[in-house]
Amino acid sequence: MSRVCWGIFREATHSPGRESDDTEILRLTGKHLEAKGFHVELKTADEVTENADSWPRFVFLMCERLEVLERLRALEVGGVPHVNTPRAVHNTYRDRMIAVLDEANVPFIPSRVLATSEAPEPCSLPVWVKRGDVHNTQEGDVVLASAAGDVETALRGLAVRGIERAVLQPHVEGDLIKFYGIGAGGGPHREPPWFRWFYHKDQKLAGHPLDQRQLARLVRRAAAALGLEVYGGDAIATATGQLVLLDVNAWPSFALYRDEASAAIASYLALRFSGGKR
Ligand SMILES: Nc1ncnc2c1ncn2[C@@H]1O[C@H](COP(=O)(O)OP(=O)(O)O)[C@@H](O)[C@H]1O
Ligand SMILES: [Mg+2]
Repeated sequence: MSRVCWGIFREATHSPGRESDDTEILRLTGKHLEAKGFHVELKTADEVTENADSWPRFVFLMCERLEVLERLRALEVGGVPHVNTPRAVHNTYRDRMIAVLDEANVPFIPSRVLATSEAPEPCSLPVWVKRGDVHNTQEGDVVLASAAGDVETALRGLAVRGIERAVLQPHVEGDLIKFYGIGAGGGPHREPPWFRWFYHKDQKLAGHPLDQRQLARLVRRAAAALGLEVYGGDAIATATGQLVLLDVNAWPSFALYRDEASAAIASYLALRFSGGKR
């Protein structure tokens, strides 16, 4: 039985400032999978075509462009397992993420989705203005609007680039947390799924109370709702100890934990691709 898997890199435009970290985590995961007896072929998103000479048995992917996800979806429908699934990656598009988490009743930063052509109702400042689809790819995609007029300027900036929808979110004060996770359910021996978090380094920590178990549970609920198996994101711990989930991403760079994470992802993939439960 062929054990060929494809590993697909993130599009460089979706990795501003993180190109090499994003590349490294995929490469290392591929190496660990090879050591487990899989044959790994790494590809760029552009190299993915439905009419490949031969289909892989499995795909693991960091790419995010819709057109590539659609091609992969065709493979998936043909019976090739994917981690993350193309649908889960699509679910991290900001407007979909908001709708999916809302539907699943997972607490998320209050978010208002609006058309970039709309004149926004006055809102309390500062407010974050984010493009409604993909995550930050360039300046202007994720902006903190502090003064009256900044919101309109940010929306217009998105509109002229052809981005039709935006999201407004209140600015939340507190300690900024980054997190990484692998697997949504328990492992084969019911061990908790791999989860790591840390305080973002470029900040003056207030030292607000933080319940780590609560954080892990909140993140896992979000990942499960979105269908993500390899994920990361951002949250804020506020002065009252409340945790506010800001963002969830598919297959992040795992930069601070690359060695550990790549081994854990490969083990997870090996299990998943051998028909093991999610
Ligand atoms: N509502 C918010 N309150 C406080 N900080 C925020 C808020 N939204 C975004 N940020 C800051 O901006 C960063 C980027 O926002 P995020 O939603 O994660 O977008 P992206 O990952 O696409 O850049 C966050 O890591 C955080 O530092
Ligand atoms: Mg983010």
